[in-house]
Amino acid sequence: MAQEDLFKKIIAHAKEYGFIFQSSEIYDGLSAVYDYGQNGAQLKNNIKQYWWDAMVKLNENIVGLDSAIFMHPDTWKASGHLSAFNDPMIDNKDSKKRYRADELIEDYIDKQQAKIDKEVAKARKKFGDDFDEQKFMETNPRVQKYREKMEATRQQLIKALEDDDLKALGQLIEDCEIADPVSGSKNWTEVRQFNLMFETQLGSLSDGANKIYLRPETAQGIFVNYLNVQKTGRMKLPFGIAQIGKAFRNEIVARQFIFRMREFEQMEMQYFVRPGQEKEWFEHWKNTRVKWHKALGIDENMFRLHEHDKLAHYANAAYDIEFQFPFGFKELEGIHSRTDFDLSQHQEYTGKKIQYYDPELDKSYVPYVVETSIGLDRMFLAVLTAAYHEEEVPKDNGKSEQRVVMKLPPALAPIQLAVLPLVRKDGLPEKAREIIDSLKIDFICQYEEKDSIGRRYRRQDAIGTPYCITVDHQTLEDNTVTIRDRDTMEQERVATDQLSEILDKKVNMKHLLEKIL
Ligand code: GAP
Repeated sequence: MAQEDLFKKIIAHAKEYGFIFQSSEIYDGLSAVYDYGQNGAQLKNNIKQYWWDAMVKLNENIVGLDSAIFMHPDTWKASGHLSAFNDPMIDNKDSKKRYRADELIEDYIDKQQAKIDKEVAKARKKFGDDFDEQKFMETNPRVQKYREKMEATRQQLIKALEDDDLKALGQLIEDCEIADPVSGSKNWTEVRQFNLMFETQLGSLSDGANKIYLRPETAQGIFVNYLNVQKTGRMKLPFGIAQIGKAFRNEIVARQFIFRMREFEQMEMQYFVRPGQEKEWFEHWKNTRVKWHKALGIDENMFRLHEHDKLAHYANAAYDIEFQFPFGFKELEGIHSRTDFDLSQHQEYTGKKIQYYDPELDKSYVPYVVETSIGLDRMFLAVLTAAYHEEEVPKDNGKSEQRVVMKLPPALAPIQLAVLPLVRKDGLPEKAREIIDSLKIDFICQYEEKDSIGRRYRRQDAIGTPYCITVDHQTLEDNTVTIRDRDTMEQERVATDQLSEILDKKVNMKHLLEKIL
């Protein structure tokens, strides 16, 4: 299936099955703002729990925090967001579309890479087993030309971004003859900077209200509470503070569904370490986070690591964990070595000492920070993307039909178990409810009796329910039910008193956590 079609199908499916709705849809919606429906809210909560438990339960030196969205406005002066949290934007005069200038150039670089890949594939086909890829890459003139162009463009992009040189970015777009991806026009405006923070007022205007901001990252709530947590929790370095919460960015180019939103949720962890040990911890957290993703059983080829060309104003090293969304590999999570930038800035702006007394060194210092930061909504989209499958399956009459099945990791599924009476009579509904009552404390269950059993299975497949239990007339005789596996569609007859144990092995989140211990 074409990737564009896949993306459209995922968006339509997410709405049809109660995962995601456009915000204020009855008023024609609000751009780049979304609501999570009955299945979406549960799936999102499950992802949060997986992240929270992996941080706070599995690490005795990581504690949680829930800080406010509104913060003292000086926070954002100190953090650099007021002066430096900008995106370089460019408008196309013909299509009236606005783009991030650096992303247009990065897409151009990716296109050069795609041309190289195509040449290699062609040559491999031609030369078969004799093909020497390394030699080909080093000697083929066309590949050489693309590589040189790609490298030169990358270096110019890095320099322009590091120097905040908007003119150079504009020039690069012109030199590379980059066209508007929608209209094909090369009629561009100059590149301009846009600050991404939302402003609002605290107090009534007649009181001389103060301008404040909706936080653009949750991390600053952690930094300003560093001393509170360290002292009240008697924390020793290294230690971490984890937080899940809303963040807001006035994204100029808000597109790609829940990938780039104006209101979104982050799951961030700041790990405070002794200066000089940050590289070691950076490696540790990079590997640990990759393990967290892999434990979900998603195809490993859908993830890749990408080292940042341009570092944020606070970082001395940064990697992205990228995911293969339907629109290509894009950032899912960032691992950043933030040095002592934030704590030192808050120390300077507040005039309060933010230091750690290290008894081993008999010395006080401002700790360094390694951060892991993942967008919950992006993780949600990654999980949906990996889960969406269309399959041809056999029907009872010997023909086949198509089913859409969400192969969600069982521990994350919004409904873990559907209990279905075969018919709506003969005491089967009552028996089904009895079974649900015995399981609902441990599992997220759903009762469904409407429509034929086949249609009910399809509906449960479409929301990703890993197991369906069918209660039939035999259940009344011998207390057995059938349990149907979503992915294989195989059914097994089991005793009702074994259900809890069987299901626990399959859907309990602790089995995910065991993989990353
Ligand atoms: N505290 C560091 C920080 O905020 P970031 O790379 O700007 O770093 C971290 O954001 C993560 O937040 C990203 O990797 C992405 O998953 C998510 N994110 C950022 N902007 C987003 C947006 N507009 N919509 C959805 N998720 C976003």
